[in-house]
Amino acid sequence: MFNSFIFLFVVVTGLCESANILYVMPFTSKSHHIMLKPIGLELARRGHNVTVITGFRDKNAPANYRQIQVDQKEIWDVIGTKRPNVFDMVGVSTEEFHNMILWRGGLGFTNLTLNSAEVKSFLAEDNKFDLVICEQFFQEAMNILAHKYKAPLVLVTTFGNCMRHNIMIRNPLQLATVISEFLEVRNPTSFFARLRNVYFTVYEYVWWRYWYLEEQEKLVKKYIPNLEEPVPTLLEMQKNASLILINGHFSFDTPAAYLPNIIEIGGVHLSKSDTKLPADLQNILDEAKHGVIYINFGSNVRSAELPLEKRNVFLNVIKKLKQTVVWKWEDDSLDKMDNLVVRKWLPQKEILSHPNIKVFISHGGLIGTQEAIFHGVPIIGVPIYADQYNNLLQAEEIGFGKILEFKDIREQNLDNYLRELLTNNTYRDKAKEMSIRFKDRPTTALDTAMYWIEYIIRHNGASFMKNPARKLHWIQYAMLDVYGFILAVVLTIFYTIYKLSSFILHKLKAPERLIRKKFD
Ligand SMILES: *[C@@H]1O[C@H](CO)[C@@H](O)[C@H](O)[C@H]1NC(C)=O
Ligand SMILES: *[C@@H]1O[C@H](CO)[C@@H](O)[C@H](O)[C@H]1NC(C)=O
Ligand SMILES: *[C@@H]1O[C@H](CO)[C@@H](O)[C@H](O)[C@H]1NC(C)=O
Ligand SMILES: *[C@@H]1O[C@H](CO)[C@@H](O)[C@H](O)[C@H]1NC(C)=O
Repeated sequence: MFNSFIFLFVVVTGLCESANILYVMPFTSKSHHIMLKPIGLELARRGHNVTVITGFRDKNAPANYRQIQVDQKEIWDVIGTKRPNVFDMVGVSTEEFHNMILWRGGLGFTNLTLNSAEVKSFLAEDNKFDLVICEQFFQEAMNILAHKYKAPLVLVTTFGNCMRHNIMIRNPLQLATVISEFLEVRNPTSFFARLRNVYFTVYEYVWWRYWYLEEQEKLVKKYIPNLEEPVPTLLEMQKNASLILINGHFSFDTPAAYLPNIIEIGGVHLSKSDTKLPADLQNILDEAKHGVIYINFGSNVRSAELPLEKRNVFLNVIKKLKQTVVWKWEDDSLDKMDNLVVRKWLPQKEILSHPNIKVFISHGGLIGTQEAIFHGVPIIGVPIYADQYNNLLQAEEIGFGKILEFKDIREQNLDNYLRELLTNNTYRDKAKEMSIRFKDRPTTALDTAMYWIEYIIRHNGASFMKNPARKLHWIQYAMLDVYGFILAVVLTIFYTIYKLSSFILHKLKAPERLIRKKFD
């Protein structure tokens, strides 16, 4: 029944021929999955055969959406440390964050993926794919699958622009305005911010390329055998990516120049809203006549781990509010309060879409921030790590959000911030304006993603879209050879002129000297 439906759909709508697509999104983080999943499901809905390597199994997936499940492990188990209190990561430098979490976690997760039973048996099968899509995070070894299946490679980021890929596929870096995705700087165009940006970009690239990527190569050698020789390096694989879909949009992110094969799909998981609020929550939100304040620090940061002092700040402020507060709180330790609704998990985008939501208190993760933008909800943001600070800074600058630093969470501050966002309409108006701006596009983000993915299939990798500069040595790309040559020519000319003129002067003065000698 379902298959005939798909057949009908494909015939009726005349889409590009159905293809076999491998979609690799093994990272077991909920927020990544929320953003990446709709792309795979939509490809399946359009009649493609989609195989996903995923951290989460979807129970309602259609038959042409095959799921290869990665073993479930938390990042801390993978790194081999005890789960820290994530609030302790406030103030960890971007360098430390990369060393401690991203690189070690990335290698651990890639290893976990390649050692998962389902993945192993899948890789041993004899499969053919027309396209390989990989999440671009910290699992580069998986990119080699595009070589294994002789298919073009598409990368998808969950974090917006990616500095390393700008370097590799030779998109202009624009270091004066485009800040490295996880770097926290208050005033991006100031001298020190730009200096910091250059420093971090070089730091990240060198460690990533000459240490981290080598470690990923070892995983390829160990766990993905029988590749056709010559096996390209992971660097070559990424340089040769056909398309990069980035989770950003200029209506919110810093506008930047992009090559034609870098496409902004920010908000892709919000294009189709087919889910509803559960009835009990729907009731609570409907009946909150003074409006609702929604608190959720995301899937990785647990509110229940707030230090006691900060928790009490929140509770004391909530007690005095007439608004209803809905809070994601992961255990049963909170006392009951009339205006407080606590759940261990909350359907965030559905909640944010409710008209009674007045303020979203958030950690500023990109997915949540995009959801707030989409639904026009102002934010009070407590940044903890990664890109959160930058997202919130952007919200503050545009004027629909305020940053409350973790150390500044005190009763008076929280009270003031809430009062301001609840009573001063400029935040709400700005949020509504942002929502309109964010959605105003020729096609929805999801349709844009579909169009370009199918474009790559139709044009066998569309190599004509790739920057020819990717084949140049960086000295050639930066034009240093040409500038060096011009400098050499100019210097030679000046030197020659100087030598010639001093020679001529010398000659002119010569008779004078002779004359002077005579009279001496
Ligand atoms: C899709 O998968 C089915 C079942 O595995 C297979 O019969 C069909 O040929 C595949 N379609 C394409 C386009 O490869
Ligand atoms: C990779 O995973 C395997 C199996 O779980 C484990 O034995 C091995 O130590 C891991 N290697 C690294 C480098 O983490
Ligand atoms: C509301 O907030 C805006 C932006 O911060 C500010 O310029 C304005 O003065 C505020 N209005 C009131 C009435 O406080
Ligand atoms: C680069 O990708 C194209 C398709 O996009 C493919 O035909 C070509 O073989 C790839 N080159 C390398 C060196 O992998």
